[in-house]
Amino acid sequence: MTTPQNTSKILYGGDYNPEQWPPSIWDDDYSAFDQAAIDTLTVGTFSWSMIQPDKSRYDFSTLDQIIQRAVDEGRHVVLSTATGAMPPWLVTEFPEVARTDFEGRAHVYGQRHNHCPNSTVFAEFSGRLAGLLAERYSTVPDLVAWHVGNEYGGACYCQKCAAEFRKWLQKKYGSLDSLNESWNTTFWSHRFSGWDQIVPPNALSEHWKGPDYTAFQGITLDYMRFMSDSLLANFRNEKKAIRNHDKVTPVTTNFMGPYRPIDYHRWAESLDFVSWDNYPASRDDPASIAFGHDLMRGIKQGQPFWIMEQSPSITASRDVNPVKRPGVLRLWSWQAVAHGADAVLYFQMRQSRGACEKYHGAVLDHSGRTDTRTFREVSELGNEFRHVGEHTLFGRTPSQVALLFDWDNWWACEITDGLNRNVKYLDVIKRYYTALWKINVSVDIVSVDSDLSGYQMVVAPILHMLKADIVDRLEEVESRGGSIVFTFWSGRVDSSDNAFQMDIPGPLKSLCGVRVLETDSAGPDVLNPIIGRDRDTGESVQIAESEFVFEILSPEGAETVGSYGEDFYAGSPAITRNVSAHGNGEIWYVGADINQSGVDWVLRNAATHRGLLNSYSDLTDLEYCVRVHGDERLQFFLNHGTESISVTMDSSGHDLLSGCSVIAGDDVCLNPGGVLVISGPREPHVADATKRVLE
Ligand code: GLA
Ligand code: ZN
Repeated sequence: MTTPQNTSKILYGGDYNPEQWPPSIWDDDYSAFDQAAIDTLTVGTFSWSMIQPDKSRYDFSTLDQIIQRAVDEGRHVVLSTATGAMPPWLVTEFPEVARTDFEGRAHVYGQRHNHCPNSTVFAEFSGRLAGLLAERYSTVPDLVAWHVGNEYGGACYCQKCAAEFRKWLQKKYGSLDSLNESWNTTFWSHRFSGWDQIVPPNALSEHWKGPDYTAFQGITLDYMRFMSDSLLANFRNEKKAIRNHDKVTPVTTNFMGPYRPIDYHRWAESLDFVSWDNYPASRDDPASIAFGHDLMRGIKQGQPFWIMEQSPSITASRDVNPVKRPGVLRLWSWQAVAHGADAVLYFQMRQSRGACEKYHGAVLDHSGRTDTRTFREVSELGNEFRHVGEHTLFGRTPSQVALLFDWDNWWACEITDGLNRNVKYLDVIKRYYTALWKINVSVDIVSVDSDLSGYQMVVAPILHMLKADIVDRLEEVESRGGSIVFTFWSGRVDSSDNAFQMDIPGPLKSLCGVRVLETDSAGPDVLNPIIGRDRDTGESVQIAESEFVFEILSPEGAETVGSYGEDFYAGSPAITRNVSAHGNGEIWYVGADINQSGVDWVLRNAATHRGLLNSYSDLTDLEYCVRVHGDERLQFFLNHGTESISVTMDSSGHDLLSGCSVIAGDDVCLNPGGVLVISGPREPHVADATKRVLE
């Protein structure tokens, strides 16, 4: 199953919790929704205590009214299973549904998203509720999707989780011998001789400083995998209950982009489509937002996804919560669509009156006014989406570059002593992504077990852990003439996090044609320039600055591209390139943690060599994306900068937003925050724009 197919435009609306205010206000809500072309409402997410006031009583009357009103008003409904927060009675009567934290403290009632994922009581009550909701509402006209739970996350360390962990381990390893081998338990006399000796790794057991400081990475990694699977089991339990009554409506839950505790790749096949909550941490970092979209699109092999939540203005959970600047809401919403979103939804439609989110931005603020800047922008965007209609729906994003992303690698690098705690997996991955984003090369962010056969280039930052047959599949990329970019810390450990007893980078050595002799590291006070040759003049130039990690390389077949400028290894190789014997592939190895401009240099070279640059690669601040569907090709142009950009079109079409036609060769001026959505034939005649501009 995919995103809902019974839609005819980008779905627009979001979380609507009218049980929090009197029905007399609902009329105002709907008249505002009409103005803003809001067609989709997500209801019920935090309604558990309203629907089920105690263990044996259910009261659907308010939800009935809310849904009936939405239907009468002709809206699509996204129905939540209401299990995003537990009711007080559940925890009071069954204290084991609450979590035990990393320090071993058993929690009492409070907050949300904090059930023990292995609680059978939770499974029973949440499953029953999901089933009752599905039984009652599955025939609601225009029920477009089920929204299970809310932002699954975190971890529990209770006795029940410990017992389930042991079962999970028995299933995974079969025998204690195999487990002891995988966890290398001979180290520090940890050989387990009974399953009941195994306890969750936390502050009371293996951890000595915090969640990232463990004596046994194997144990901690398995616990992280187990927790991710346990939460997935919660999702699956509710989905199963829904499916008993509703076989057709797609089921999702809202992901959080690059969220460390959950391996979303392990969840992929259980969801009908991916949706996620886009709350950018920074006021202005379009590449980072684009990264979130592409990561989410990659979870289900490039299928379109939904933005389940974004704020129309501010968030509330951060220490400082700036408003979205004029035009940014539109720009970032179109950016989501450009990267593959088929729905753009808000949290939330009207501001809460009280508690911690009362100042969180909403389509309607406490006053309910429709003459606010936020409402005006929401409304203009809604009407624009209505005007564009079905064009953007279901489009796929053609990419010739794959960026490998792997939760196991993320976890492993950040819980390992002896590497460098300053290096954050996500920062490094994003730096490589950003370099491609800047030159407008479309990227699929995929799991390490994805099919790589369609890609011309694979970028694999920090491929520390080599799982399953990844080496074979990377060798296959090389043998058909593709290019690969590796970095420092690659090829070090197997899937149990045990080191390969061979040269570094282990099984990747022959592919890279390089051997790592030593790995130096430093804190943020040390920078080491990397010296290479200018592409055009051949002169010696600084191509990057490196910090934190400095691998001293010995080429074994590869050529040196850049060498360290300082320290006792000044002059020795830091970046190499192994020219493949097949086709014109190149295997890059970047042995140092290099800065953004260094990564830009590497990836521009690698992409140029493969002919991946396009007519828009040199336009700073311009984001360019393509979606194709049927015979139509949509090109999205977004100006994230503060200056106008002149874009010379390389093909003809018409702009869905303004209705204007463009002819190949036209110079189109795109104002700051400006968006073009050019529709044209799937196989366009592309003019040689670059050449023409030079003439
Ligand atoms: C998350 C939750 C919402 C709300 C928003 C606020 O995304 O899913 O319930 O708390 O954050 O930003
Ligand atoms: Zn637990």
